[in-house]
Amino acid sequence: MEQTKPLNNSVSMAGEMGKLQNYKLIVELAQDAIFIKDLKSRYVLVNQKALEAFGNLPRRKVVGKSDYALLPPDQAKVNIEDDQKVFKTGKPVEITKKMTAGDKNFYFEAVKTPIKDTKGKVIGLIGIARDITERKNAEEKQMAAMREKQAIMDTMLDSLVVLTLGGEIVSANLAHLKKFGHKSIDEIKGKNITKLSNAFVNPEENVSKAAKLFKGVIQKGYTEHPVEINLRRPDGTQEFIMSVAASVLKDAGGNPKNIVAILRDITAEKQFEEQLISSEKMAAVGQLAAGISHEFNNLMAVIRSSAEFAEKTKRKADIEKSIKQTIQCVNKGTKIAEDLLSFSRRVDRKREKANLKDLIEEILPLIKADLEESDVQVIRKFERIPHLIVDKGQMQQVFLNLIINAKQAMMPKGGTLTVTIKREHKAVSIRFNNTGQLIKKEHINRLFDPFFTTKGSLVGGSIGGVGLGLSVSYGIIQSHGGIIIAESSPGKGTTFTIRLPIMPKKTGG
Ligand SMILES: Nc1ncnc2c1ncn2[C@@H]1O[C@H](COP(=O)(O)OP(=O)(O)OP(=O)(O)O)[C@@H](O)[C@H]1O
Ligand SMILES: [Mg+2]
Repeated sequence: MEQTKPLNNSVSMAGEMGKLQNYKLIVELAQDAIFIKDLKSRYVLVNQKALEAFGNLPRRKVVGKSDYALLPPDQAKVNIEDDQKVFKTGKPVEITKKMTAGDKNFYFEAVKTPIKDTKGKVIGLIGIARDITERKNAEEKQMAAMREKQAIMDTMLDSLVVLTLGGEIVSANLAHLKKFGHKSIDEIKGKNITKLSNAFVNPEENVSKAAKLFKGVIQKGYTEHPVEINLRRPDGTQEFIMSVAASVLKDAGGNPKNIVAILRDITAEKQFEEQLISSEKMAAVGQLAAGISHEFNNLMAVIRSSAEFAEKTKRKADIEKSIKQTIQCVNKGTKIAEDLLSFSRRVDRKREKANLKDLIEEILPLIKADLEESDVQVIRKFERIPHLIVDKGQMQQVFLNLIINAKQAMMPKGGTLTVTIKREHKAVSIRFNNTGQLIKKEHINRLFDPFFTTKGSLVGGSIGGVGLGLSVSYGIIQSHGGIIIAESSPGKGTTFTIRLPIMPKKTGG
């Protein structure tokens, strides 16, 4: 083929048309639409692809016509305006545009270049347009899919972040940007999340939590249990406790590609939990205070009426009775005060090596007479057990409480109290089983509550029940790292079991 000069500078429209025939083959075979227009924007030459763009019109219906004859008026107008720009400036113009032919949309990327005569005067233009419809459609589909994905992400109230496997931020939803005060994703995109140390409260701890979480996710594909991570706005204005769960996104080939992390703000929940705990504590303290004042009011009322009665009466016997009653009330008041004291003294007092069997044997003689009087028979089933480190006084107080409760449950008929000491693996158990009155089902869960009693105050002139015995015992056993449980069923009687570890863990009061 003959080597030719470029078209755009030295072609005289009429005279050189013949030479243009030489290009015909190239032009016709080109995959781009190629056309030449004169100064009136009439098509002088069009190739096959250009005709296709006009909906496969025959060439004769295109050549000599302007866009107004071929296209909808608005499109034609835009085309002609582009032509005018080329004619006026004498410079090439690049255009990307959408065109409608028939019922189809086409997208073109076109360059219109002026054709000049030998004197440099513009006499027309040559346009090369590439159909980018397919590419454009694919792009648009992808964009739509992305917009859809983003829209879904943005409707979420929880914060969502997509990361590379290495931890770089790929995208985040609106909730996340808002929560952490980012104006746009660009502020964090591409940054490694574990290196955003100003986003973590207490970075050392929380960054390593996050790193561990991601490592686990990559291995397993998901998080088994959400992890609590403390994060903050980078400007430090707000801190959050986030519950973070993540999973791995795979590519089409099934290989791990991204980590998707979902962060739920549980700050309020946590605060509520704390408030609840402290309000429960307050309620317990209130209950305790109410119980104490109730008990003391009762005692004071009895003391006052006894004293008033003693003052009025002349009978010696009545005066003696009043004094006796007053002393009983004072004793009860003293007992309440002592119980409350051991409540507050639950913190370790003196802990020493002790033989539990000996501790029980020391107590039994003290109430031997009482037990015999009530027809209570004591059976001992003591195994050899190691010495334990305990507060002897407190431990004896517990045993005494349990023995007295047992005796009271067997009154007035009497019965059997069986005390069993056994070794159980790394613990020892001490069981107090008694016959007699069973514990009602509806009471079993309340036995250890302060001031829970079924014994009534000042019953029969005895000290009666305050309802502190078991709650004090519970506190003591707990401070020794042990447990105490109650069971009561027909045929088996009532059993209180204490389990104490042989090597106690350090526990608080
Ligand atoms: N061995 C037992 N058999 C049956 N009921 C029992 C036994 N031990 C405790 N209870 C029940 O548990 C309640 C609470 O016991 P707790 O020792 O705490 O208080 P209390 O004996 O009533 O009064 P306090 O011990 O303060 O004088 C008792 O009132 C009783 O109803
Ligand atoms: Mg008691």
